[in-house]
Amino acid sequence: MLAVAILAAGRGTRMKSDLPKVLHDLGGRSLVERVLDSLAAVRPDRQLVIVGYGGDRVRESLSAIPGVEFVEQREQLGTGHAVQQIIPHLDGFAGDVLVLNGDVPLLRPETLKNLLDTHRSAGNAATLLTAHLPEPKGYGRVFCDGSNRVTQIVEDRDCTAAQKQNRRINAGVYCFRWADLAEALPKLTADNDQQEYYLTDVVSMMSPVMAVDVDDYQEILGINDRRQLSAAYDILQTRVKNAWMMQGVTLIDPASITIDDTVTLGPDVVIEPQCHLRGKTAIGAGSHIGPGSLIENSTLGDRVTVLYSVVSDSTVQADTRIGPYAHLRGQVQVGNGCRIGNFVELKKSTLGDRTNVAHLSYLGDATLGTKVNIGAGTITANYDGVKKHPTVIGDRTKTGSNSVLVAPVTVGADVTIAAGSVITEDLPDDCLAIARSRQVVKPGWRLTVVSDVAAP
Ligand code: UD1
Ligand code: CA
Repeated sequence: MLAVAILAAGRGTRMKSDLPKVLHDLGGRSLVERVLDSLAAVRPDRQLVIVGYGGDRVRESLSAIPGVEFVEQREQLGTGHAVQQIIPHLDGFAGDVLVLNGDVPLLRPETLKNLLDTHRSAGNAATLLTAHLPEPKGYGRVFCDGSNRVTQIVEDRDCTAAQKQNRRINAGVYCFRWADLAEALPKLTADNDQQEYYLTDVVSMMSPVMAVDVDDYQEILGINDRRQLSAAYDILQTRVKNAWMMQGVTLIDPASITIDDTVTLGPDVVIEPQCHLRGKTAIGAGSHIGPGSLIENSTLGDRVTVLYSVVSDSTVQADTRIGPYAHLRGQVQVGNGCRIGNFVELKKSTLGDRTNVAHLSYLGDATLGTKVNIGAGTITANYDGVKKHPTVIGDRTKTGSNSVLVAPVTVGADVTIAAGSVITEDLPDDCLAIARSRQVVKPGWRLTVVSDVAAP
């Protein structure tokens, strides 16, 4: 049996934030969500999250994840005190407990699997993850005897000058045989610089305790302040971008591009500088994104091009060209081979195949058929100040430049609307609609200006 305890009760004072530290966002997921994600390969039977500061917000943010149990730590008296709180919840539990700090978000699932396998095959009472850091300041230092048995962990602030020279640090990730941990926890004292109950003190009460080095020390970076949060984001980005380049995606100037790890990209996608791909976004093969675009929670088909544009919560089919300077938002669906051009905003609208909206338009709550041509400056007046109303436009219809479609309105197929028209009533199929006042020409008329009048 395996139980997991995640320590997420601390405030995270060094973040200088109102938000509990473990809820800070790292590339679209909170720190604690990422810690839960890292459990993918160990498949625990129980998952306990220890909450305290901002506990309601932490519970709320994890409420959709199945199988998570919450344990309250009312006062934050240290990491050892936090783990003491799980004792009544694991009454009668036989097996191992994996304890993780909630602020270590970059762990790879294989690393935890390896830690657990080593712990079990070696028959250890405790096994902890360690790393050799070039810059170990702030971390607990791990001291071992000649045969890699841990004798002591000393917090940075409790270290002597000589102890500080040790670069082997405690990652805050441990495997314990539960029976041994349950026996050691009540014996902890707060006899240290912070007067806290340190979980790390249990190692000197157990035997054997083994340290396992992580290959890539970047995995165990703990987030205590915003600089470390930013460093973690860089590490995550480098991982994601390298992986996509190895899968056949071209990134031009990767340092200027950000890609969430929830994004998927097809082969031969090209991403130009200053592009940001976020959330549940999928981009099909051969698409060309950027420069200068933001795509979030959207699905783009194959060979789509997007230039200097923003696409949110939308779906775009193959061979469609978007931009420059277009904005698609709120469940827009664009068909195959469309063109959405300069300074066009689409909101909650559906466009059939090979429909063009090439210049200076706003279409909201509109449904367009196939091969529609929306003339420059066409606007759907979809909002009467209280409610939004729909506009429907049939196949092959052409709207003239600067026409306004006052919703609710339905325009048939094969309609031509004259430039400058204000369409307020439905139009049948196959007609020409002109809805503007006639041009008036007055021969010989001249403007009389004040300067023409002779001075007295
Ligand atoms: C801890 C370790 C240190 C290790 C480092 C790795 C201890 C005493 N020290 O130090 O050896 O190198 O992590 O990142 O364990 N928490 C609670 N309740 C509390 C206190 C903390 O739930 O009463 C939680 C925090 O929310 C956080 C985690 O425990 O997620 C770690 O606490 P933090 O204060 O960041 O410990 P460090 O000083 O980083
Ligand atoms: Ca920490």
